[in-house]
Amino acid sequence: MKPSKKLYLGTNTKMYQTIADTSAYLSRLKELTCDISPQLLELFVLPSFTALEAAAKVAKNSIIRIGAQNMCWADEGPFTGEISPVMLREVGAELVMIGHSERRQLFRESDEDAARKISKALEQNFTALLCIGETRQEKEDGRSDEVLRSQLQRALGTGAPILRGRLRIAYEPVWAIGADGIAADEHYANERHRTIKGTLKELFGEAAGYEIPVLYGGSVTPEHTDRLMRMPEIDGLFIGRSAWDAERFNRIIRSALQLFYERGEKEDFNYDCR
Ligand code: PGA
Repeated sequence: MKPSKKLYLGTNTKMYQTIADTSAYLSRLKELTCDISPQLLELFVLPSFTALEAAAKVAKNSIIRIGAQNMCWADEGPFTGEISPVMLREVGAELVMIGHSERRQLFRESDEDAARKISKALEQNFTALLCIGETRQEKEDGRSDEVLRSQLQRALGTGAPILRGRLRIAYEPVWAIGADGIAADEHYANERHRTIKGTLKELFGEAAGYEIPVLYGGSVTPEHTDRLMRMPEIDGLFIGRSAWDAERFNRIIRSALQLFYERGEKEDFNYDCR
């Protein structure tokens, strides 16, 4: 029998939400999700650096895991303006996101930066969420799979195998993200997830494609959730704007749980999603 899988849902609040906003948002999300077991769902929120400490306090005794949106690849040193993993741990972060497309596009972060950060996340016992995705031009040139394979090989090629249980991948096509983005068609997304899982198997062995969750991100809305979550290769969703209101996020959570259940991923699933 296949071991039961979990559903993975998370949000990155980008450079929005003050400490007060984050605390109010998280206490509502905590109330709304208090009936959900962490065996069914990994739910995570990545607020701004300044809100991390307050966020970790509010999220205590809930299923919500708190993480950072970026991290330096060194523990300390003459790196003005950077945030150390040791400092993130000190304020209660458990996860760290690496290589978001806005970091890559606007701040020129490379796959090599991602590789160094992934190794450091591993060493510091974080769960790491690696973001990858092709640009519109790369898609139009028919190079999407090649780009995804290369991003994974370069970021994970060294030293990541032991991170396996603590690694999540977010597939976020650059053209799908943000107010100007268009969510990917679910069949297109499913095919890219298949490529990603195939590459993970090549890198880490057969079981890895099953064990490492791959989340889809880019203009996910409550309306779009059902179509995405029917796809067998999509293990969860990574959401921006549609998750920044706790009630709206909860709608996504409930319908994603229901669809995940209907897919039969969770044999011992006995949660009532009404
Ligand atoms: P979006 O953001 O859902 O608002 O498109 C996704 C992301 O940037 O991860």
